[in-house]
Amino acid sequence: MNYRHAFHAGNFADVLKHAVLARIVEYLKRKPGAFRVIDTHAGIGLYDLSGEEAQKTGEWRGGIGRLLDAAIPEPAGGLLSPYLDVVRALNPEGGVRHYPGSPLVTRRLLRESDRLTAIELHPQDSQTLKSHFAGDWQVRVIALDGWLALGAHVPPKEKRGLVLVDPPFEQEGDFDRLADGLATAYRRWPGGTYALWYPIKDRAAVRRFREALKAAGIARILDITLELRPPSPEPRLDGCGMVVVNPPFVLEEEMAAILPVLRDLLGERNATARAEWLARE
Ligand SMILES: C[S@@+](CC[C@H](N)C(=O)[O-])C[C@H]1O[C@@H](n2cnc3c(N)ncnc32)[C@H](O)[C@@H]1O
Repeated sequence: MNYRHAFHAGNFADVLKHAVLARIVEYLKRKPGAFRVIDTHAGIGLYDLSGEEAQKTGEWRGGIGRLLDAAIPEPAGGLLSPYLDVVRALNPEGGVRHYPGSPLVTRRLLRESDRLTAIELHPQDSQTLKSHFAGDWQVRVIALDGWLALGAHVPPKEKRGLVLVDPPFEQEGDFDRLADGLATAYRRWPGGTYALWYPIKDRAAVRRFREALKAAGIARILDITLELRPPSPEPRLDGCGMVVVNPPFVLEEEMAAILPVLRDLLGERNATARAEWLARE
């Protein structure tokens, strides 16, 4: 396990992922029933962008660094505000030094009745994550293999909620694990919402992943992508996607407002951003 998210925190991929995450959580709050978010690859929860790792890559400058103080037209501005307000609240002096990971974005948006299960396998990272939520009875941090949790922890007892799967993609086979893990979890809990992050780097692997999802017998799958540039000649992270199973019915429309803003602020001249159905009832 060599992956360290601190090098990438706040980059364009985090922005897309956390913007989609926040919209799903906001939607879940429309109904009074309690829900649970299960974050299977949670990371450490809070990142210091002035730290050595983030400074070394500077990736956040092309992500949250471009978004936070931008003039965002409506309705995208209002739709992005739950996410961006979490970031602003962590940086009361302005700018962006502290950046929230997915468990902290989620936690800051929960109501009192809602719960978060955050799973992180790296022993030190899971300890760091635990320290952020010490004494917080709405959050359970577990040091466990997220792929196992994907099968074992669904459905949650609330029977409402979201499973976020955000693996590091440092090993061969994460696309297969993602498609297989989703199929297993979906069989156990077909009513859950699932959000799966994936890199757009190896185009053939992305095509195979999409085909596997189309063939999985899942009724509703929305594929949200942000490509910063056309395919590079050498393998490079040109973009990323979020596959959302059982998306909120408003998500496609919300993305139609948000994605052009992210594309124009974060992308290069030929950037694209789309929300397309891989499966639709
Ligand atoms: C992309 S990062 C997660 C970032 C986080 N979701 C966020 O948005 O802030 C992937 C994380 O998965 C952890 N990880 C790697 N393999 C894992 C596994 N099998 N189970 C759970 N966590 C794992 C890594 O230590 C890393 O912290």
